[in-house]
Amino acid sequence: MFRFLTTGESHGQCLTAIIEGLPAGLKVNVDKINEELAKRQQGYGRGGRMKIETDRVDIVSGVRFGETMGDPITLRIQNKDWENWTDRMSVSGMPAGAPVTAARPGHADLSGILKYDRTDIRDILERASARETAARVAVGALCKQFLESCGISLVAHVTNIGGVAMTDADIQDWDHYRASEMRCTNEAVEARMKQAIDEAKQAGDTLGGVFEVIVRGSMVGLGSHTQWDRKLDAKIAAAMMSIQAIKGVEIGVGFEYGNLPGSQAHDELFYEEGRGYYRTSNRAGGLEGGMTNGEDIIVKAVMKPIPTLMQPLSSVDVHTHEAVKACRERSDVCAVSAASVVGEAMMAIVMTEAVLEKFGGDCMVDFLAAVRHYKDRIKQA
Ligand SMILES: Cc1cc2nc3c(=O)[nH]c(=O)nc-3n(C[C@H](O)[C@H](O)[C@H](O)COP(=O)(O)O)c2cc1C
Repeated sequence: MFRFLTTGESHGQCLTAIIEGLPAGLKVNVDKINEELAKRQQGYGRGGRMKIETDRVDIVSGVRFGETMGDPITLRIQNKDWENWTDRMSVSGMPAGAPVTAARPGHADLSGILKYDRTDIRDILERASARETAARVAVGALCKQFLESCGISLVAHVTNIGGVAMTDADIQDWDHYRASEMRCTNEAVEARMKQAIDEAKQAGDTLGGVFEVIVRGSMVGLGSHTQWDRKLDAKIAAAMMSIQAIKGVEIGVGFEYGNLPGSQAHDELFYEEGRGYYRTSNRAGGLEGGMTNGEDIIVKAVMKPIPTLMQPLSSVDVHTHEAVKACRERSDVCAVSAASVVGEAMMAIVMTEAVLEKFGGDCMVDFLAAVRHYKDRIKQA
């Protein structure tokens, strides 16, 4: 079984992830993990924090001389900013300064302190913060390296920022994407997205948006129709919704299904000698009956606008119950491009889990043999 946990606070000493279940013998490229971490830190509209941190992973267990051994793997990312926060984030003693008491609408602040019986909102916001997603991106980067071994690759791109959206008429330019600050495939749309972010920043406001994750090279039959918790589309939706501020997920044409008759909603099936089964459309987004169908997996997720506003919303002080303006923790104006990197990582994690559930394998040799055997059988079907 593949599983992982993350630990760590936004201004704590470090973030940690413990991963279990990756086969022995996987070659690990640390630079590639750091590249993914850097991508998460970029993006037009990010706040000052990202300028302080240059995330780098330390692998402190489970990898020896560039290969996994089958042991649990521990990844650690140091928080550089911690040095400036020891007076407020120490393990012992008393915190310096006043507690955070003005709860932010749209954040975990109020529900968190009520549920966990805390008096300082910092006890909640430190872990609710999306800083935690750096650990997930590191795990996802390792999963991407594992998936590459069986021909599966992933990419995520931003399709909408605050209503400035890619349309079907906008050409997808993947060369532009590679250099794009917004992880957008169209230069003109990206320019308008940046303008929208500039305007929001000037107004003390924030923006959300939509990103799309595409998984290429998946074999048919990952996930299963046989039980609710084996359905891969359900696992994908849960993984996407677990990302901070993600409030909706679509697979394939998604909510557009509500506007289409059946005759225009499904992907017709064809068969050709030598080629096997094929489709000429992919409205299902690569998933039917909770299983991959061999087409690209297409998942969209919507991110709500960042809850911390520089022109704060009305709120209540949780000590005095007086009407106040919400607190202004240093914050992003828009983080959809960063969220798309996290989305790509979470998809890589779900795909890794699905692939290992299907093929098992304590070591890469056994795993790859099982994949080959299965692909051969499907080719002949
Ligand atoms: C990459 C990323 C960066 C984020 N940056 C911020 C931020 O700077 N300020 C903020 O208030 N919320 C930020 N958020 C969103 C909050 O973490 C999130 O809204 C909050 O934890 C409450 O959870 P919920 O929106 O899922 O209900 C970010 C989310 C992501 C995915």
